[in-house]
Amino acid sequence: DCLTARKIIRLPGLIDVHVHLREPGGEEKEDFISGTSAALAGGITMVCAMPNTDPAIVDGDTLNQVRTLAKSKAKCDYTFFLGATPSNAELLPSLAKSQNPVVGLKMYLNQTFGTLTMSNFDDWIKQFEHWPKDLPIVAHAEGRDTAAIIMVASKYQRSVHICHVARAEEIFMIKAAKEEGKKVTCEVCPHHLFLSEEDVTYIGESKSSVKPPLVKKSDQQALWANLDVIDCFATDHAPHLLSHKHKQFCPGFPGLETILPLLLTAVHEKKLSLKDILTKLYINPRRIFNLPDQPDTYIEIDLDETWIIPESLPYTKADWTPFAGRKVKGKVRRVVLRGEVAFIDGQVLVPPGFGNEICPLTEVDRIKEPIRITVPEICADVIQELKLNDLCESD
Ligand code: NCD
Ligand code: ZN
Ligand code: ZN
Ligand code: ZN
Repeated sequence: DCLTARKIIRLPGLIDVHVHLREPGGEEKEDFISGTSAALAGGITMVCAMPNTDPAIVDGDTLNQVRTLAKSKAKCDYTFFLGATPSNAELLPSLAKSQNPVVGLKMYLNQTFGTLTMSNFDDWIKQFEHWPKDLPIVAHAEGRDTAAIIMVASKYQRSVHICHVARAEEIFMIKAAKEEGKKVTCEVCPHHLFLSEEDVTYIGESKSSVKPPLVKKSDQQALWANLDVIDCFATDHAPHLLSHKHKQFCPGFPGLETILPLLLTAVHEKKLSLKDILTKLYINPRRIFNLPDQPDTYIEIDLDETWIIPESLPYTKADWTPFAGRKVKGKVRRVVLRGEVAFIDGQVLVPPGFGNEICPLTEVDRIKEPIRITVPEICADVIQELKLNDLCESD
């Protein structure tokens, strides 16, 4: 029953804390069906959806609108971020603490895709004055704004999570803040770990556009040298059509279907451990974002299958990938979500609407429910070999 020739391992369903599913308003780029299918194909069973849609998710009406869409279409589990604007700081806390809470508040401090950029420092402060201290705030905060937003969070004695850290100065500021005991966490994306400025020549200028931009080799080295400072890996799955990218500023890459093979290849190259993958795509996302266990949910990965990333991946509507042509080792074989086989050998089996909205844990629940890893063992000898035993101890 178990293939000892191949190293098949089980991990918990992975959690991606930064995805753009584009509904409402960007359905030609992605929708809940295509985006959550891509997640399952990538071994991800829970996604945190970003609010820079059209309309953006910034109040009760737009939140209800996106909830209705997701409820009938999503195939994996999901939760939503609300978007901060210069005028919604007073209004958001009631949505945060309702019966049906969101995962956190997203603040866009720099220009990127969508209409949610807040360049005014006063507007950042207003949000920090109102948003509940115990619920996550995540920030797109590049360069000096990384330092600025950490300082603001520190003044309000609360945490902040920095999205898609890419540059040496950003990871150094986060490291320094952590060393001082400031409550800051961060995520890094595969495209900043595995692509750099040097790849722009063959990928092409407009195709390579992403926020933060692809970085210098020295920035990339700083990320790899500071893996212990990186709390999460997240895709920042930001699908755009190439026809759009060639015409206007549409920064971003699809990433859900390639994150795991890229990271597993780095494991083979001994740049990373399986424990890093488990910590940064499961344990820390749960801890930072108060996410509950998904019962009977796990993924099976073939560690030895070698394949070449094609020009475009099966599920995302973004019909291309910046990683095309790359040889990777490691493939998602099977995904079981809440007891159902949701994905097997290339096929997504669950219907639209199978995904549930996840209700983040309250402060009380968090104490009652420590994070445990409950992955059924597939093959004791393989697990032994990979030293997955110590990795599977509850944290
Ligand atoms: C994102 C998008 O397209 O929504 N683009 C990107 O380049 N990262 C927006 C964002 O996350 O900044
Ligand atoms: Zn961003
Ligand atoms: Zn993003
Ligand atoms: Zn066996």
